[in-house]
Amino acid sequence: MATAITPRKILVTSALPYANGSIHLGHLVEYIQTDIWVRFQKMQGNTVHYVCADDTHGTPIMLRAEKEGITPEALIEAVHKEHFADFNEFLVEFDNYYSTNAPENKVLSQGIYKKLKANGKIATKTIEQFYDPVKNMFLPDRFIKGECPKCHAKDQYGDSCEVCGATYNPTELINAYSAVSGAAPVRKETEHYFFKLSECEQFLKDWTRSGTLQGEAANKMGEWFENGLNDWDISRDAPYFGFEIPDAPGKYFYVWLDAPIGYMASFKKLCQDQGLDFDEYWGQDSKTELYHFIGKDILYFHALFWPATLEFSGYRKPTQIFAHGFLTVNGEKMSKSRGTFITARSYLDHIKNPEYLRYYYAAKLNSTMEDIDLNLEDFIARVNSDLVGKYINIASRTAGFISKKFGGKLSDRSISVNSYLTLRLPLDSPVLVKYPDMGKKQPIEFIERIQNSASRISELYESREFNKAVRLIMELVDVVNDYVDDVKPWETAKYQQLDTITHWNCSVILNAFRLISIYLKPILPRIAYQVEGMLNIQPLKWSDSENLLSVRHEVFAYKHLISRIEAKQIEAMTEANKENLTATPQPHSEQRHAAHQQNEAKAETAEAEYISIDDFTKVDLRIAKIVNAEHVEGAEKLLKLTLDIGEEEPRQVFAGIKSAYDPETLKGRLTVMVANLAPRKMKFGMSEGMVLAASDENGGPFILSPDAGAQLGMRVK
Ligand code: 2FM
Ligand code: ZN
Repeated sequence: MATAITPRKILVTSALPYANGSIHLGHLVEYIQTDIWVRFQKMQGNTVHYVCADDTHGTPIMLRAEKEGITPEALIEAVHKEHFADFNEFLVEFDNYYSTNAPENKVLSQGIYKKLKANGKIATKTIEQFYDPVKNMFLPDRFIKGECPKCHAKDQYGDSCEVCGATYNPTELINAYSAVSGAAPVRKETEHYFFKLSECEQFLKDWTRSGTLQGEAANKMGEWFENGLNDWDISRDAPYFGFEIPDAPGKYFYVWLDAPIGYMASFKKLCQDQGLDFDEYWGQDSKTELYHFIGKDILYFHALFWPATLEFSGYRKPTQIFAHGFLTVNGEKMSKSRGTFITARSYLDHIKNPEYLRYYYAAKLNSTMEDIDLNLEDFIARVNSDLVGKYINIASRTAGFISKKFGGKLSDRSISVNSYLTLRLPLDSPVLVKYPDMGKKQPIEFIERIQNSASRISELYESREFNKAVRLIMELVDVVNDYVDDVKPWETAKYQQLDTITHWNCSVILNAFRLISIYLKPILPRIAYQVEGMLNIQPLKWSDSENLLSVRHEVFAYKHLISRIEAKQIEAMTEANKENLTATPQPHSEQRHAAHQQNEAKAETAEAEYISIDDFTKVDLRIAKIVNAEHVEGAEKLLKLTLDIGEEEPRQVFAGIKSAYDPETLKGRLTVMVANLAPRKMKFGMSEGMVLAASDENGGPFILSPDAGAQLGMRVK
């Protein structure tokens, strides 16, 4: 007997999408992942609140509204409707979908700021920034363009070059101009407000160790700690679309200050609507659980700024942060020219059924920060084979007989028989049909196996290993289909004298179909809803896998549940996206730069199980001579290496090998370096590559040395 467990109280969020662009398939990875998890938790009987909102503030939104000749409020309202409709049609079921430009958010943001200030965590500093003298506004780095200081490509953004990948300060751009007015920007002083993140290091280190982060994310934190935490600039000058900072006229909260507070505001609104207790979920000693699903690119904001903000303003911290990887399409970054930058709306227009994508993403998603690939050919094959050919086929091959032959009622015999006889059908043909020996009263083995899988599948959902859950469910689907193939109801149905057998087998199969539908319900909620209708049952809960449909249960006629995807639908969709893409998401713009300021290393693409030889040859490995090695003041783990690889200028590389090497012993040695790693700005200077070193729990790091005879500059391949 199942023991009664007290339901958990869980608050879940997905990252708030910017209100200046359309939802696309990249965004949907996260919303679908979160929605599946939330639906699973709700099926478990837990109390779950899933909230989100549009992220509405900042310069890009203000300027876009101006360009369109409308107010920012009108713009964000229109986008809110569009986003909400997109999510709704993808069956992403928020309990509240709000806006950061809401009164609750203003009150909460200003309140949090005041508490941070009272706790001594706010400082002011005069900084110099680029200013557009024509537009009379300070310019975020993303709105300054010019020639790349490294490769001299024209019209590059103020924070990074899209041609050579270099990152730099806008001051380094050659012939800089304002992307807003075209004028040459001038430098101007302004007072800014800072959150003293540098004082939060100990708290954040402790918090990181509390198991709140995935392994890869905790490693990333280690790197950030190593590079040092800088104070965070939380203010922007007017004109700015956002909330004014209390007692600081003309100064506004930077969008990233009030965006995560939008999680709280959206929940606050839900509390007002549903009579929930806000403090029970956000109070310092809350016993409830709080999970943020995010993309790995915004880990810095959620794992550093956000918990520190909460800690020093008297709120609870997240229970866990679940970061996922990026989406690639056909193995590459989504691309407008290839038509693979696909908006949610365009998918719906061409493919129609959101559950195909939900299923495909689920089949790929796991709990790591690895990227996931939407391979469009594989998408067609997998959906057609798994969903149409295997899962739905179970019902479509059997349910019809119940309504047509047996008056819509299941067999009056319980499905507890486990011994089969073999029948030759027709009597003069070689077709063999298994049929049960109804005298034996034992549970059916494959039905039991399906039922017994409930706990393993639930563990996999809980730990966000959706790909493994899908694999296991599909194994069960195969077992059911094998049974259907064995008992061949379409053959036995031809013989009236075998009606009892046909009736009984179809009842067993429909029971199996119901069980599988429970397991797929978090992923395929609409199909589950239709199945519930057809089977004439209450909404399926997880614990329903413990029981079966009762004998003589009445069901409705089978209705077509899903169609195959045609390759031409996909072709039409990619064609349309080549031609029609107007809404261009600007995922990080100003925000991405803030992360650079904090020396954030670019999120790395996670390793796939195998790489191709082409992937490998992309890595330029060279024999390097360590011409100098020295300690770096203030760095716990780093040594500064000067490496000669036969180029005009030696490379400077910061390597985390201080614990294992006396710099003097390294001088003159040959080693192996990655020579084409994008240069990375660290607290102590630029790092222009990486040396290879081995390490694990048994020791290290041990840097690599080539055999005698290798010369500096040689390629390693
Ligand atoms: O990166 C983004 O798309 C941001 N709009 C996410 C904000 S999440 C949260 F913190 F509000
Ligand atoms: Zn460049």
